[in-house]
Amino acid sequence: MRILITAGPTREYLDDVRYLSNASSGRMGYALAEAAIARGHQVILVTGPVGLTPPRNCQVHHVETTDELLGACREAFPACDGVIATAAVCDYRPRERFSGKLAKTGVSLELELVETADVLAELGQTKAHRWIMGFALESAEFAHQNALRKLKEKNCDIIVLNGPAAIGSNTNEVELIDPLGQAIERYTGSKTDIAMRLIEWVEAHLNSQ
Ligand code: CTP
Ligand code: CA
Repeated sequence: MRILITAGPTREYLDDVRYLSNASSGRMGYALAEAAIARGHQVILVTGPVGLTPPRNCQVHHVETTDELLGACREAFPACDGVIATAAVCDYRPRERFSGKLAKTGVSLELELVETADVLAELGQTKAHRWIMGFALESAEFAHQNALRKLKEKNCDIIVLNGPAAIGSNTNEVELIDPLGQAIERYTGSKTDIAMRLIEWVEAHLNSQ
């Protein structure tokens, strides 16, 4: 298969030197890219800024903002069999981006934030025969309901539910939620091990679509 994988955080700039972002390390996405390549698949990795070296034998696109992530995914997705979306997309951006560096004024500064594009939702609308594995990051309450809602809104075939402990960690604990809302698999361990289980799951269940 040819698999598109999104990884890492995005950044949304307030001025030329300041941005909003999150603590995503990119490890889950990079581990998935490694695992997919090890299993003989072709990988297009679209990655936000992280301190990791991409796997060899993999086409890499470096992006910073959500709009750049969207552009790279729009371009790559049509030639792929499916997408695994681990990117921790920055949900908001400052309405205005100032050029240069904003100086202090001695009074409080109010920032207006607007939502960024939902990259996976857009891929979901154009997926046709392609498959989609989404990720959902949920804190405890209503985690399963939220994951199922995201699966439907983004037209995913499967969604990987994980908690805030996943962010920045070497290990993870995930559940696979199917379109009926059933938790059909539960994997715990290093992100490397979980990545291999997820790729094998994709091969067994989504390959032939
Ligand atoms: N995602 C995306 N573009 C966004 C936000 C999320 O492509 N602007 C993708 C993520 O990569 C992930 C899935 O959508 O695969 C769910 O991300 P998550 O942050 O859990 O959900 P949101 O839809 O952003 O909802 P919220 O953060 O409000 O819970
Ligand atoms: Ca989000």
